Amino acid sequence: MDKTQTIHYQEYSADQLSVSDQDLIKEAIEATQSAYAPYSNFHVGAAIRMVNGTIVHGSNQENIAYPSGLCAERTALFSASAQYPGMPMETIAIVARNENGILSPALPCGACRQVMIEQQKRQGMNLRVICYISNNKILVFDRVECLLPFVFEM
Ligand code: THU
Repeated sequence: MDKTQTIHYQEYSADQLSVSDQDLIKEAIEATQSAYAPYSNFHVGAAIRMVNGTIVHGSNQENIAYPSGLCAERTALFSASAQYPGMPMETIAIVARNENGILSPALPCGACRQVMIEQQKRQGMNLRVICYISNNKILVFDRVECLLPFVFEM
């Protein structure tokens, strides 16, 4: 039997977002400055707003032995978890700059989605995900399942 699953998300232009979400995107843009990406020249920035309003940055950190590097999102998620153990994360914003420094579409890879969904499960509270595609197209996912349906479970 054919079945269809719909994915729920919102699409906004930058000026339609709340000020706090606009600010979080600015924080993610700032985070791209600390990326170490000499191999891809793709600078990804992530900013997490913790439930108490604290902001945690992450950026991609590459390595000459490629798989040893880490994406911006997981750098931010693990850093937040290590610095503020047990504190729920409310929203993560993700942006990317291409080799010319131009903001480019930023959607999280599968491994980062998997880490986000485990964080959401641990904290028992939805983790919102904001993905910057362009100034006129910002995708907002209210919870991580919207980005990772049929997630692995044991
Ligand atoms: N990257 C991220 O930081 N986040 C993602 O979700 C996908 C990819 C990084 C990894 C690598 O440093 C560069 O982007 C190119 O793949």
